[in-house]
Amino acid sequence: MTAEAKKIGVAIIGSGYWGINYVRVFNELPNARVAAVCDARQERLDEVQRRFPGLTVSPDLDEVLQMPEVDAAVICTGATSHYAVASRCLEAGKHLLVEKPMATTVPDSLKLIGLAEKQGVILMVGHTFLYNPGVRKVKEYIAEDKMGRIYYLYSRRTNLGPIRYDVNSIWDLAPHDISIFNYLMDSTPLWVSAVGSNILANSREDVGFVTLGYPGNVLGNIHVSWADPNKVRELVVVGSNQRVVFDDLNALERVKIYQKGVTPSADKEASSFGEFQFLIRDGDILSPRVEISEPLKNQCNHFLECITTGSQPLTDGWNGLEVVQVLQAIDRSVAQNGAPVFIDHESLRISYDIQASSNGHHTHPVKVNGHA
Ligand SMILES: NC(=O)c1ccc[n+]([C@@H]2O[C@H](COP(=O)([O-])OP(=O)(O)OC[C@H]3O[C@@H](n4cnc5c(N)ncnc54)[C@H](O)[C@@H]3O)[C@@H](O)[C@H]2O)c1
Repeated sequence: MTAEAKKIGVAIIGSGYWGINYVRVFNELPNARVAAVCDARQERLDEVQRRFPGLTVSPDLDEVLQMPEVDAAVICTGATSHYAVASRCLEAGKHLLVEKPMATTVPDSLKLIGLAEKQGVILMVGHTFLYNPGVRKVKEYIAEDKMGRIYYLYSRRTNLGPIRYDVNSIWDLAPHDISIFNYLMDSTPLWVSAVGSNILANSREDVGFVTLGYPGNVLGNIHVSWADPNKVRELVVVGSNQRVVFDDLNALERVKIYQKGVTPSADKEASSFGEFQFLIRDGDILSPRVEISEPLKNQCNHFLECITTGSQPLTDGWNGLEVVQVLQAIDRSVAQNGAPVFIDHESLRISYDIQASSNGHHTHPVKVNGHA
């Protein structure tokens, strides 16, 4: 077998603003080959051919999926088309990496998971930030227990657009933050409360404020906006010993550790003002070394490795479904002006297991709140 024959053939479906990055990355990876690029818009295919001469392009998805040299597909179309395009790729027996959010409903996400299992192919979701060395560094700090007890997390993801016409700003931007929070907390929220606003006279919310209730009374808050002239991509974790900041726009100091914190004093003695005593810890501000690597490239490498070894992706279908489940709960809360909406992960698992066993499929070790 030649070295070329060992390469995994990848089709990129959707080569707009983000998809063309996949074309570049897979074109550079030594164990992959861009077998085809598919886009409904001819001008995007022309742009691909201009930047990557010699690549096969087609506006016809069926034609691409019939190509024997296509082993795997990457879906980078708009969110509302993910389910339909993903189903076709999986039915054609292709390994699949689908951009976030994996679908726009929980039932559709479950169907994709079932289809991938039936076909025996890898299903992975493009939650890119879990492949970001800065986020990995924050995770390390939490795992090493240096932060003490986690009090709360918050993130801001604001900019002037780019405005999408198929989903609101929460479905567009918050999947990143929800996936990061779930990863850092090694769990999923028990409830959500969210409000949104249509500031730009859009038919969808262009601004959102989302609160997530994690186990152990840990609160997470996410602010997303398409209408803020200040571009921010920041995540903060506040613990009893430390505060950790991940700023994706700060190339020099992507992660900063503030070795300061406050905890109630051990004896909890009331002061003369009737207040509990608190221990304030002061310390240094550190900027740890963060490996320099491109998150999208790390993600694509992980996808290829899972295809080669048959291992389960970090951001597999279940991981993607957990994010969609939270987004659906957020929709319900926004519709009720922020009323809390509780998320029942367990009954979803049970209903899937019943459905899978009645269909004759083996059941999958489902992660609920981080536990298989
Ligand atoms: N992970 C990340 O960091 C990240 C960043 C940006 C965008 N995204 C995701 O990537 C996806 C695409 O975003 P974008 O900004 O590139 O959008 P875009 O509108 O620029 O590109 C989408 C492309 O898909 C094509 N398309 C749509 N339906 C198609 C179909 N059925 N068959 C073939 N082509 C089709 C369109 O013609 C368009 O060129 C979205 O799901 C978005 O959420 C992820």
